Amino acid sequence: MNSPVMQGLNLNVPAYVKHAKLVAWVADMVALCKPDNVYWCDGSQEEYDRLCQELVDAGTFRKLNPAKRPGSYLAWTDPSDVARVEDRTFICSEKKEDAGPTNNWMAPAEMRATLNPLFDGCMKGRTMYVVPFSMGPLGSHIAHIGIELTDSAYVAVNQKLMTRMGKAVYDVLGTEGDFVPCMHTVGAPLAAGEKDKTSWPCNPTTKYIVHFPETREIWSYGSGYGGNALLGKKCFALRIASTMGRDQGWLAEHMLILGVTNPQGKKYHVAAAFPSACGKTNFSMLVPPKGFEGWKVTTIGDDIAWIKPHADGKLYAINPEAGYFGVAPGTNTLSNPNCMASLDKNVIFTNVALTDDGDVWWEGMEQDSGSKPAHLIDWQGKDWTPEIAKETGAKAAHPNARFTVAATNNPALDAQWDDANGVAIDAFIFGGRRSTTVPLVTQARDWTEGVYMAATMGSETTAAAFGAQGVVRRDPFAMLPFCGYNMSDYFQHWLDMEHKLEEMGHTLPPIFCVNWFRKNAEGKFVWPGFGENMRVLKWMIDRIEGQTQGQETLFGVAPTYGEINWTGLEFSAEQFNTVTSIDKAAWQEELKLHGTHFEQLAYHLPPQLLQTKASLEKRLAELA
Ligand code: GTP
Ligand code: SPV
Ligand code: MN
Repeated sequence: MNSPVMQGLNLNVPAYVKHAKLVAWVADMVALCKPDNVYWCDGSQEEYDRLCQELVDAGTFRKLNPAKRPGSYLAWTDPSDVARVEDRTFICSEKKEDAGPTNNWMAPAEMRATLNPLFDGCMKGRTMYVVPFSMGPLGSHIAHIGIELTDSAYVAVNQKLMTRMGKAVYDVLGTEGDFVPCMHTVGAPLAAGEKDKTSWPCNPTTKYIVHFPETREIWSYGSGYGGNALLGKKCFALRIASTMGRDQGWLAEHMLILGVTNPQGKKYHVAAAFPSACGKTNFSMLVPPKGFEGWKVTTIGDDIAWIKPHADGKLYAINPEAGYFGVAPGTNTLSNPNCMASLDKNVIFTNVALTDDGDVWWEGMEQDSGSKPAHLIDWQGKDWTPEIAKETGAKAAHPNARFTVAATNNPALDAQWDDANGVAIDAFIFGGRRSTTVPLVTQARDWTEGVYMAATMGSETTAAAFGAQGVVRRDPFAMLPFCGYNMSDYFQHWLDMEHKLEEMGHTLPPIFCVNWFRKNAEGKFVWPGFGENMRVLKWMIDRIEGQTQGQETLFGVAPTYGEINWTGLEFSAEQFNTVTSIDKAAWQEELKLHGTHFEQLAYHLPPQLLQTKASLEKRLAELA
């Protein structure tokens, strides 16, 4: 391989980088990708402002009106590059069985032979940014370090908001520290002297999001968007980290983490897994409604949790991220006031609409202003009016339009969000988006039943991933697109936690299953959701404290109508029944689907899950 020095390119290694292996890797990748320049990000504000200005000059960013939205930018992507691409995502373990039936797999050697020619010269005409980041508080024993090499300045500035990014990472890394190498390119090399013809360079036809779990490497080609490109997030913090967790005895989960403090000042910590675009950000920023005076909910994380058992026998969780890459549509001061306040300043918006006065807009904001704007430029740069929308159904913002914002913008940020030790988890929640069948809330009778509930969870697909929407698919633990190894081995790993923790003398956190999304015959959500979810959260805490009995149902222990605090909300026993009832015929169908799901996952499927299914079937048969 030609060394970069032979190519006449200076690596420009800063004096504070003292890690020989890292420098050698960067040199190799420069030789492969052949960028015009190498730039080492230091994570400073000055650097952020400069890169944002460069993105403005390149046409990728539009600076928003500083009087309306100070320090904020808007990016519109290529219409082909708007969400995660699950069919282009690969887990390249040595053995196919280790990737399991739910992941795309290719043999590592074959994948390397595919990627090598694609990466050869892929950064021609561009700058390679060296982006150092810590997933988790710097130096925390639960945290891990990654280095992303990318030819996208958009990725570099997003990583500044989303992670602990900057030169302090090299102090933690020292001369020998471990890091996960994350290669990223938009896959659009330029000929000598050529300029970008588009403001969102990407490869519209060829995309690869590739993980090598054994060697803990990530290679991403052709997309500049979200989870495809911000490699610390789904690629590292879930797919690679779940594999690390399997090997090292911890958990990497698609979970929000929140703190909830009662009026007496007692605080609980809850981790909740809902699939993409099913309410994690909203739940983590919940504002308690009327009837919950003195209660407080605080955010530790909104998307990912790393959870490690501690010597005291408890599970401690950190948020590996430092910012939110959240869904914009549907967000307003009624549904999520804390989120709206977080978006006042210093935000990067992607694929929302532009107002005539240089601010942003998305579907759902009409709640706040009382009406839709008379005119906008939509996320594809076209004129948008309410009339056009009525005629053509055109959305002003893409349904997966997102905001990127630092966690420190959040008025409800938990005081312990950056605590290197994490917070002790008191309960787990799993929930999907189901218009029918699954009740509002139940509690698993034991750990195994909880793992069963999570393992069989179904959810209607959303715009967060490319493909058909609104189709029910099994999304075990909300990890279907994110588990870096065989799903059944992952179930086993969860089941094994029980004995590990019991040996340490800990009583396990209870597991709850929720569904905010049941609909009535008119197709409308029955449960009001959002802040009102506090009523369900409070019932869970009452359960933890042994203050409510609940009632046995087919699928765990459920609240009676009288056990929920209804102060401040009109919600009749009949409405409650609509969101909690268990329909025998629907559950017979549901259990058939569990069966098909388990057949697909037969390799290494823990037998306890089949036993749990058998007892469910028995209970169902006995139902009137
Ligand atoms: P990812 O960032 O993709 O992982 O999504 P997320 O799980 O954080 O989802 P988010 O909180 O951003 O919500 C996604 C969509 O669900 C938004 O359009 C919300 O308005 C809607 N939503 C969230 N919570 C509720 C709820 O309690 N009830 C109803 N009906 N909709 C909700
Ligand atoms: C998700 O899809 O679950 C997200 C957005 O949180 S992305 O970063 O694109 O994965
Ligand atoms: Mn997510």
